[in-house]
Amino acid sequence: MNELNAIKKNFLLSREDLIQLSHDFCRAIESGLEGESSPLMMIPSYIGKPTGKEHGDYLAVDMGGTNVRASKFRIEDRTIEKLKEVKGPLRSAEAGYDFTSSETTGAELYDYIAGKIASVLDPSESLPLGHTFSFPTEQTGINDAVLVGWSKEISISGVEGENPNRLLQEAINRKGLHAEACAIINDTVGTLLVAACSDAHANIASIVGTGHNTCYVEPKHPLTGQPMIINMEAANFDWGLPYTEYDDALDAASMKPGKGRLEKMISGAYLGEVLRLLLVDLMQRKLIFRDDQDERSWLLEKDGLSSKHVAQFIAEPAEAVQCFSCSEEDGACICEFAKLIVQRAAQLVTCTYMGTIMHLDADVKEKQTIGIDGSIYEKMPEFQTGIRKTLSEVLGEAADKIEVKLVKDGSGAGAAVAAAMVNANK
Ligand code: BGC
Repeated sequence: MNELNAIKKNFLLSREDLIQLSHDFCRAIESGLEGESSPLMMIPSYIGKPTGKEHGDYLAVDMGGTNVRASKFRIEDRTIEKLKEVKGPLRSAEAGYDFTSSETTGAELYDYIAGKIASVLDPSESLPLGHTFSFPTEQTGINDAVLVGWSKEISISGVEGENPNRLLQEAINRKGLHAEACAIINDTVGTLLVAACSDAHANIASIVGTGHNTCYVEPKHPLTGQPMIINMEAANFDWGLPYTEYDDALDAASMKPGKGRLEKMISGAYLGEVLRLLLVDLMQRKLIFRDDQDERSWLLEKDGLSSKHVAQFIAEPAEAVQCFSCSEEDGACICEFAKLIVQRAAQLVTCTYMGTIMHLDADVKEKQTIGIDGSIYEKMPEFQTGIRKTLSEVLGEAADKIEVKLVKDGSGAGAAVAAAMVNANK
C-alpha cells in the first residue's frame, strides 16, 4: 500500500467499528444515568417537552461561542414567531474587541449582552427571559446552573463556578431593564424544545456547529420519575474513538487537552485544524507540494485552515488548487482528505445518535426524530448524506424510522419556549 493510502485508511470506519461505537455510546449513557463512571455528564435540564399551553411574548438570550443574540418571540398554539433580534460577534478584529479571552470578565460579557437586550425590549415592557448558555454546566434547577468549565477555546474570567443567569440578571439590573431571567438551558435543549413544538416524535436533538453536543428525553428521569431532557455533553465522549496522530496532536495543542475528544473530531472549531495537521504531515513527508514548500509556510501556523476551507475544498477541488497554488493532482488529494475527515465526523456523530436510540428503543420500533442545528450540519457538503448513509449501513430498513432534520434557531427560540414553560407552570 502506498503511503497516502495508508494514511487514508486511518480515517475509515468499518460497519463493525460503527456498531461497536454505537454500543459504547449507549453503555456510556447507561453508566452515566446510574452514576457510574462515564465520559457523558448526563446533566438534568429540569425541563420536559412543551405541552402546547405556552403562550405570550418572551425574551431570549443566546450565548453560543461565536455570536451573542438577544431576541423577542411570540408563542401561541405551538408556533413561535420571532418579533425582533439583535446580534453581535464575541470577537471583532475590526472593532478591536475580544470577549472570549481571559482578559474579559463575566460582568463585561454580560454588560455587552444586556446592551443587546436593550435593543429588543421596549422600555415600557417587562418580560420573562430564557437564556441559552451553550457550555457545560452543573444544573440543579431550571434557573440554577453553574459553569463547570469553558469549551470551544473560550476562557472569559470569573464565570467558571458561577451561575451565568445570575451574572445576566445583574447586568440587566445595572442597565435598568425590565426582564426576568427565569430559565437557563443548553443549546441542544433549546433545539429539542423547538423540534418538539411541532413534532411529537422529537426526542433527540443535537448541535453540530462550532461545538458539538446532544440531548434526549429520558422518559422516567431518576430524579423526578417524569420525562426530563438530559444534556449529555456528548463532546466529551471518548470510549473507543479511532484517533489518528493528527487528532492527538490537535488535542495536545488545544486549551483543554484530554477534554472534548469527540467534539475535536466533529465540530467546526476543529475540522480545519485536523486537515491542516494532516496536510503539514503530507507536505513534510513530500507526499504533496513536492515542487516548492516555502510558499506554504503559512500552513505551519495553528488554525491556518478553518472548517470553511474544508467545505470549499470538498465542494470544488479547484479551490484547493487556488488556495495552495498547487497542482491539480494535489488539489484532488486535498479534496479527498477533506471528504474523509467530514465522512468520519458524520459517521461518529451518527454512532452517538444510534447509541441514544438503542437506549430509548433498542429494537427501533418507534419513529424517532432527531433535530439538529449548527453550521456543520447545515452547510458542510456531504455531512447530511454521511449521516443517512451511516444510519442505513448499520440499521438497514429500520433507518427509515429515523428522521433527521434541520431545526433552525433552536438556541434562540428554544430559550423563549423554556421561559414560556416556566411561566405556564406558575
Ligand atoms: C458545549 C456544549 C454545547 C455544544 C454545542 C460544546 O462545546 O460544551 O454545552 O451544547 O458545544 O454548542
